[in-house]
Amino acid sequence: MFISPDLPHLGAAARPRWRAPQPLVEHPLGYVYRPLWHNRCWEVLSIFWGDRQTSKPHCHQISFNLTRVQSGRILERKYRTSGGQLIVASERVLTAGQWTWTLPFQVHELIGLGDRSHTLHFYFPGRKTTARHP
Ligand SMILES: [Fe+2]
Repeated sequence: MFISPDLPHLGAAARPRWRAPQPLVEHPLGYVYRPLWHNRCWEVLSIFWGDRQTSKPHCHQISFNLTRVQSGRILERKYRTSGGQLIVASERVLTAGQWTWTLPFQVHELIGLGDRSHTLHFYFPGRKTTARHP
């Protein structure tokens, strides 16, 4: 592999932390997830949702997020704030093959519709820890 001397050396902290397949982790909110890949630049999570399991409204701080529905159906709500209250700004049902995105500091919520929906989540940059809910 050729590496240009003009490119900055990323160092060990920027290298992806590839691990053997991780076990599914049960989130306190009920859904289960599996960290697939992360470094300080990006992160990938796989999430399995039961019927009506929710992420609750949250934001990813500085991370831009892309989410793809792999199977099943997901209700996505995006929120805005008004007078210190969260207000639903939009709702959308996503089906297999569809993508959505979340801007940095945007508040959104995902809810499983049906017994078993599967989503893939990409974060740029990666979040500090996968222990937080996606
Ligand atoms: Fe999210």
